[in-house]
Amino acid sequence: MSKSYKIGIIKGDGIGPEIIDEAIKVLDAVSVSQGFTLKYEEFLLGGSAIDETGVPLPDETIQGVKKCDAVLFGAIGGPKWDSLERHLRPESGLLGLRKEMGTFANLRPAMVYDELVNASSLKAEVIEGVDIMVVRELTGGIYFGQPRELQEDMAFNTMVYTREEVKRIAVVAFDIAMKRKKRICSVDKANVLEVSQFWREIVEEIAVDYPEVELTHMYVDNAAMQLIREPKQFDVILTGNIFGDILSDAASMLSGSIGLLPSASTGKGVGLFEPIHGSAPDIAGQGISNPLATISSASMMLRYALGENASADKIDDAIKKALSEGYRTGDLGDYDAKEICTCSEMGDIVADYSSK
Ligand code: IPM
Ligand code: MG
Repeated sequence: MSKSYKIGIIKGDGIGPEIIDEAIKVLDAVSVSQGFTLKYEEFLLGGSAIDETGVPLPDETIQGVKKCDAVLFGAIGGPKWDSLERHLRPESGLLGLRKEMGTFANLRPAMVYDELVNASSLKAEVIEGVDIMVVRELTGGIYFGQPRELQEDMAFNTMVYTREEVKRIAVVAFDIAMKRKKRICSVDKANVLEVSQFWREIVEEIAVDYPEVELTHMYVDNAAMQLIREPKQFDVILTGNIFGDILSDAASMLSGSIGLLPSASTGKGVGLFEPIHGSAPDIAGQGISNPLATISSASMMLRYALGENASADKIDDAIKKALSEGYRTGDLGDYDAKEICTCSEMGDIVADYSSK
């Protein structure tokens, strides 16, 4: 009997539904051709959950995703829900979901497709061959630290990391580095923050177990500059929640568009796979969004959560082929473009190539 997996689908808001539809198209094509079955179950999160249930993270979602083999997620948020109190906003739903799922390790590869070296705002010689893995701690740090409060004349958040939290994300980064070029740059702000000094000490302790891996440290402000100045110096970047959020957006520009980059959030149980970009409400519903980051996230899901590596390779190759043949969504500009296509046309092309 062929293998069958249950995939949780969270479309979300804005361009979320359209990019997820394309990823499902590709997953269906590749699973049929590779002989396994994917069963999908949809869950609500974010603005669409608020509209239907009054809360951004319904209980059914929390319980339901835990019964899946993996979860594929689009994007959440939009102006419609911006004025809500923080705990009722779509973003709180996503953060709550990450916490509930225990997905503390967020892997954000920043790679440059050869076909798109001219699509970046940086010079081709600076970005050609860039291949970085940002390992972002996802369920701790200032995003979740207590106390936090918004008062009339002041407001505060707290950046907290426990020893265990730093250890486990460092181990993930070192394990990944062992399979890559064996270099880690841990990014912090240890010249100012106690929490960063602590982070650094623990990362140093973990490094002892990985003598083959070269560990360096960098302050986050310098790292932001170095990513643009000489990105090829990086292999694995290990960093905390907020620094990883910022640096991964910056790193996405090396690739030419934030619409290209996927992510995998793994940890204690079921993994969550999502593009690194947001819900882009300004272009939602026009069919012009780029589905490649989500399709690429689906590929990471096959590889990391289901172990269907051959299928993941098929999707990655199909994306490259589509790009090398000159198919582009609007965000990539018209460099070397044969055809500017819609979100759905791009999905059709990648699905077709993935199934061969
Ligand atoms: C991301 C996003 C989220 C984050 C938002 C939507 C809460 O920017 O996944 O990078 O800050 O983690
Ligand atoms: Mg972000």
